[in-house]
Amino acid sequence: MRTVKIFDTTLRDGEQSPGASMNVDEKLQVAKQLARLGVDIIEAGFAIASPGDFEAIKRISNEVEGPVICSLARAKEADIKSAWEAIKDASKKRIHTFHSTSDIHLKHQFRIDRNEALKRSVNMVRYAKSFTDDVEFSPMDATRTDVGYLCEVVEAVIEAGALTVNIPDTVGYSIPEEFGAMIKEIRQRVKNIHKAVIAVHCHNDLGLATSNSLAAVLNGAGQIECTINGIGERAGNCSMEEVVMAIKTRGDLFNARTNINTEEIMKSSRLITKITGMSVQPNKAIVGANAFAHESGIHQDGLLKEKTTYEIIRPETIGLHKTKFVFGKHSGSNAIRTRLKELGYVLPDDQFMRAMVGYKRIADQKKDMFDEDLEALVSEAVTKVSEVFSLVDMKISAGMHEKPKAMIKLKIKGKDKQKTTTGDGPVDAVYKAIAFLTGTKSRLLKYEVKSITGGTDALGEVMVALEDNGKSMSGHGADTDIIVASAKAYVNALNKLAARKKKNTARL
Ligand code: KIV
Ligand code: ZN
Repeated sequence: MRTVKIFDTTLRDGEQSPGASMNVDEKLQVAKQLARLGVDIIEAGFAIASPGDFEAIKRISNEVEGPVICSLARAKEADIKSAWEAIKDASKKRIHTFHSTSDIHLKHQFRIDRNEALKRSVNMVRYAKSFTDDVEFSPMDATRTDVGYLCEVVEAVIEAGALTVNIPDTVGYSIPEEFGAMIKEIRQRVKNIHKAVIAVHCHNDLGLATSNSLAAVLNGAGQIECTINGIGERAGNCSMEEVVMAIKTRGDLFNARTNINTEEIMKSSRLITKITGMSVQPNKAIVGANAFAHESGIHQDGLLKEKTTYEIIRPETIGLHKTKFVFGKHSGSNAIRTRLKELGYVLPDDQFMRAMVGYKRIADQKKDMFDEDLEALVSEAVTKVSEVFSLVDMKISAGMHEKPKAMIKLKIKGKDKQKTTTGDGPVDAVYKAIAFLTGTKSRLLKYEVKSITGGTDALGEVMVALEDNGKSMSGHGADTDIIVASAKAYVNALNKLAARKKKNTARL
């Protein structure tokens, strides 16, 4: 059985999804989870794209062990140099450089001919090789490229030293039979193809990214580029959980395996949802809320008799356990630290203390604490952005026959400020008061609330997305009181916006 490498690009292509931008701490948290998940390569960003991207790649290179850390770079010297500077401290590092090869791109976007594109690609692979042996090259828009020319480029970049050649379906145009045939043709026509791994990078514009990637595996591809929850540019990228579970479930057909620790899939999916604010549709394969829910009486009857009648994947395989850990307000910090460790979180003292403060507060209001509650607290503690605004206190009054009213007290630059407002509902009143106190001009794009566990004392989780100057920012808050969770999510997004503004000002 051969091993297909999983190249995760959640932090690069995934972050290109509208509204999915992550700050450096969040990216680090995702990278640590990707390492626990067992991905082979983390594409940590596009170093030259922004100082934030550069810093995130650098920190991931320094702090995350296990996977190869990779930065994207256009086929330009400055990009490649910057990619190298960002990844050079990693134990295992890769530069991924790319150039378009389709006539559409060459004629209309680059205004160069095929020879020039070939020359630039080869030269920049050689340049990248001067920094590290592990170089990947992508002929962008490969699926709309003349296949003869594509083979010529692939052969030339392998000759120049590329150890991985990635065939991207950049605009999600291909269909499985055709894409599989393209991989087969490359294997047959490119003389030195045995010196490189063939990777595939499929977009989901026609909903075929997973199918196309699997067709490529059947035809010899050795690396799949994908993202958690399939997030990514436009309709997204090939979804990691789908492609991995297809290979695992149908190992008989693929005669292949991956290095993914599938029990970490659900946790990874939840983390991405929380950080990006992009929810997964309930009927999404593998990680959707309904993926393991059986409604039909006939199915339930079969399942009760024998699980395999209607279940092709055991929920435990992707880490969907029945919650078993139950702690209360008297549980000590040692026990909680131990449980966090079992869940895969080893927190530095400051972050652990922050999580404990949250724990004590919630445990006072809630009888039992579950794994999911702990994970929500950890996420808050780890991703805490430097706070310009902090929520000090709030009071709400609402009822069927009175106008909802909210008093909000925020600490802003060391001073407490307070405002009372009315609104169409309690959340509206709270948001109006916060907007007044912070002076924000941002627009609320999304407000979503859900419960983390069952029961009326469950932690409520609120995700918001704001739009400010054409850019979006997500925020997240959790509390047993959903109005408090709503306030926290809004304040969290405003703090992230403020941090972004501060960074941009520092750059000018
Ligand atoms: O979709 C694409 O072609 C890309 C390349 C940079 C690999 O993301
Ligand atoms: Zn892409």
